[in-house]
Amino acid sequence: MTESARGTGRNIAGAEYVSALSTRPSDLRARDAFRARALELVPAGGLIYDFGAGPGLDARYYAEHERRVAAYDIDPEMCRYFADYCGELIRAGRISLDQGSYAQFLASARTRGNVDLVTANFAPLNLVSDLPGLFAALAGLTRPDGCVLASVLSPYYVGDLTYRWWWRNLPLLLRRGEFAVPGAQALIWRRRLPAYAAASAPWFTLESAYPGTTHSLGRVSVRGVAAGAPGAWLSLTRSRYMFLLFRKPVR
Ligand SMILES: C[S@@+](CC[C@H](N)C(=O)[O-])C[C@H]1O[C@@H](n2cnc3c(N)ncnc32)[C@H](O)[C@@H]1O
Repeated sequence: MTESARGTGRNIAGAEYVSALSTRPSDLRARDAFRARALELVPAGGLIYDFGAGPGLDARYYAEHERRVAAYDIDPEMCRYFADYCGELIRAGRISLDQGSYAQFLASARTRGNVDLVTANFAPLNLVSDLPGLFAALAGLTRPDGCVLASVLSPYYVGDLTYRWWWRNLPLLLRRGEFAVPGAQALIWRRRLPAYAAASAPWFTLESAYPGTTHSLGRVSVRGVAAGAPGAWLSLTRSRYMFLLFRKPVR
């Protein structure tokens, strides 16, 4: 059964989302590349926490590849789709789904401490306004050597240059490192790499940034992008998404 077919008909919002995200070849490639990076970071038996898990496509994939999985999404409709789509794996104890308010998620995350890798694919972090508050909670969620792998909207994506809102907000992006535009669910933030590095500190260090296209494309120097080196950020213009890897500093 294909990813788009499972669970169809029971939850329209989830089904529509899955079908939209399963159409564009670039989205399919981005998902493949993100999953491959996530599996590289966690050995079989390790625990992945999928933040902003949506309908559960990645959660199911990780569980089918011998990782233990926990997940959270703020949207009850998405959670209903997730519970259906991952039903038998939840019943088998291979996936657990946290539901509830964002405040409840933050409170329970702070004391958990057993997660090897937090994943956030297809831009959940762009829907969070208080990123330092989230990273503080993710620090509590993860083990001392845990990390966070996030796919975020690239503020450098060349495809966005045709939109007036991008040009209108360019001064803010350059001056403050971030800007937000209204979205259906929440404000949608676009942030430069230094803004992510600052929001994740002191709990995490932004270690790597990758263009979110194919798995084979190389790593971009975070320091190069922060310093405005043209070669560094140019490689992030080709893809709608960039993958960021945050690691806890060695204490
Ligand atoms: C574009 S979807 C990505 C879903 C999934 N990660 C995927 O790869 O298909 C973004 C998800 O982030 C969730 N989200 C938005 N704000 C959130 C928050 N504060 N906490 C948790 N999830 C959130 C949305 O409900 C939505 O399911």
